Amino acid sequence: MFVGKEVLLGVTGSIAAYKAAEFARYLVRAGARVQVVMTRSAKEFITPLTFFSLTGREAYSEMYSGGPEVATAHIQLARRADLVVVAPASARTIARIAHGNAEDLLSTAVIASHAPVVLAPAMNPQMYAHPGVQNNLREIGGWKNYWIAAPGEGEMACGETGLGRLAEPQELMDFCGWVLGGGRQDLRGEHLVVTAGATFEDLDPVRFLSNRSTGKMGFAIAKVAAMRGAKVTLITAMKERPVPAGCVRVDVRSAAQMAEAVHAHLAQATTLIMSAAVADYRPAEVSMQKIKKKEGPLGLELARNIDILASLPPSPLRITVGFAAETENLMENAQDKLVRKHLDLIVGNDVTQQGSGFGTDTNQVILFEVGQEAIALPLMGKEEVAHAILDRVVALRQKQQAHLL
Ligand code: PMT
Repeated sequence: MFVGKEVLLGVTGSIAAYKAAEFARYLVRAGARVQVVMTRSAKEFITPLTFFSLTGREAYSEMYSGGPEVATAHIQLARRADLVVVAPASARTIARIAHGNAEDLLSTAVIASHAPVVLAPAMNPQMYAHPGVQNNLREIGGWKNYWIAAPGEGEMACGETGLGRLAEPQELMDFCGWVLGGGRQDLRGEHLVVTAGATFEDLDPVRFLSNRSTGKMGFAIAKVAAMRGAKVTLITAMKERPVPAGCVRVDVRSAAQMAEAVHAHLAQATTLIMSAAVADYRPAEVSMQKIKKKEGPLGLELARNIDILASLPPSPLRITVGFAAETENLMENAQDKLVRKHLDLIVGNDVTQQGSGFGTDTNQVILFEVGQEAIALPLMGKEEVAHAILDRVVALRQKQQAHLL
């Protein structure tokens, strides 16, 4: 995807500027030719020499710094680029671009470019949440040829926690590869609630009942949905797995907690995707102390957990997607769950297939919708499966909205 591509990498003043150096290295390694343009404030955080060493090209920052091409340097830079990426993109540079304000070399080159432009915001969570910044991002996100690589959630250099961390270099690579491949942000304005991974049902302070789900499938859906422009709430018990950029994680542990979290976030959701492997049963009693071993077998009584999907109030304003993890009779069982759980779409997953189901990087699924032919997909990477599911979500949302008009 990147081989021989000219990438104009804009770096603005942010503590995250160091990540731009790693990103530049990834781009060069992937075969791209990288031209860095820095704002003046970026140079307070990282030196042009760093980028020269990584890209083999001088990093520019001044509009008129001398030399033969100076007067039209911004035009030359803009013309040469196959892709423009501003990472990190500060509130100031975002505002300049949003308002067509060609105040420095970077904003001028971006505005003068015909190439796809990816902006990767990075700033303090308060700043990121500010209506002015959000309005500018919404405005830019609506333009043809512009993509927003949403920031991640977590602890910031300033000590605050929230949304505003620059997407990780590998995430930026994935995002840019997807843009170069013609990716569209067709989920803008949508709010997806996604559940992922196993739940944990405590038996005593040291033991629990769970299952083999790792969260790979659900996290892939959350990541891809955020790339496609959705706001994503990711409800999961998989604490160790990093939250994909653009997603807000809600931590839970048990099926009961997951049910509570899903109900609490449902009102804002335009789509719910339940990819989590929710425990159907929990120990009827949780021992406060470690259960001691005795002679002979130990009986364990289990109580039924709430069926989260079946407990949801139906809504003509939401698309509800379930998964069916099956070891036999996939067609019948998936179709039964589609109807019984009032779903718009169910993803049938034969977890006995090689390379499919729990813990794998690939998956082979069949998509079922009421009154439609089932769509059997080949074995694909979990992110590709996520794209295929989200393509159907987009189509279902369009159908739903046309119906509501
Ligand atoms: O996480 P990975 O390692 O990547 O593995 C991915 C996966 C195999 C877990 C995933 O692809 C998958 O199939 N997820 C659904 C697992 C499951 O619980 O299936 P089910 O057939 O038992 O449940 C049917 C649907 O009802 C699911 O959408 C489930 O989230 C939901 N459910 C189940 C039980 C329950 N108490 N409440 C629910 O809402």
